[in-house]
Amino acid sequence: MEFPFDLTPVLGDRFCVVDQHLRPAGRPGPTHRGDLQQQLRTVIDELGKASAKAQGLPAPVTSAARMESNRHVLYILRDPGGAAHRPPRGAVIGFLKVGYKKLFLLDRTGVHVESEPLCVLDFYIHESLQRHGHGRALFQHMLQSERVDPRRLAIDRPSQKLLGFLRKHYGLDDPIPQVNNFVIFEGFFSNRPVLREEAEPPWPFNLRPAGGSPVRGTLRPFVRRDGRTEPPAGQTDAPPPPRRASSLGR
Ligand code: ACO
Repeated sequence: MEFPFDLTPVLGDRFCVVDQHLRPAGRPGPTHRGDLQQQLRTVIDELGKASAKAQGLPAPVTSAARMESNRHVLYILRDPGGAAHRPPRGAVIGFLKVGYKKLFLLDRTGVHVESEPLCVLDFYIHESLQRHGHGRALFQHMLQSERVDPRRLAIDRPSQKLLGFLRKHYGLDDPIPQVNNFVIFEGFFSNRPVLREEAEPPWPFNLRPAGGSPVRGTLRPFVRRDGRTEPPAGQTDAPPPPRRASSLGR
């Protein structure tokens, strides 16, 4: 994927890591040039659109604006090109987006466990370059930078291509069934610090099948990184109703 500007000051040489501050590679400090940051925004937006198109998504899940409002990390792989390259120099090969998320996950025995794993959120290699090992190079770079074992990752709605990729390169072929969009594999829970096990799982896990109307448990406020709590989208700031002992299953 090519751009009508020189990618070197925007992305650096081969791997570029971008966080919510959207700092161009050539300007690590806060006094970066505005045009470079605009070019970085363009690269991220175009990659996000290409990934959404490749996955058949109705809208991109990756954009510069979304990066700014989340604590995600974007690994971008570029082909720096050789000395013979004329502007625009180099091209972007693809990207991988990861981030930590609090999730309720089922272990092999069906117990709900609250965990905060590193999640694979978006992954894309340009169509003309797939199956050339670029995805693996990018994924390996991310694993090393984040110091994470691939079995400890949660994958958000993986495509068939990504499932094949994980099977081939990391032997991940034994998913633990979940009721949300995330896929985890055998080894995910081994020696992992668990935030907590839920006596009463959160909605919708707590919907009771037959014999009466479904019971909806208390919606737990989300805990923010600054320690304050906030309700899920669409809810007011009113404190949650007190939990009845019976709803805790005691
Ligand atoms: N069909 C089936 N499997 C594929 C395909 C494909 N078209 N492309 C890659 N794979 C899998 C296979 O296991 C393949 O091995 P094989 O060629 O021996 O069968 C392996 O990946 C190749 O490994 P790499 O070359 O390192 O991977 P690549 O550079 O192709 O990157 C990626 C993998 C990112 C999944 C790429 O194929 C892609 O961008 N696909 C389209 C977008 C996509 O599906 N992204 C994942 C969305 S889900 C998410 O992001 C959480």
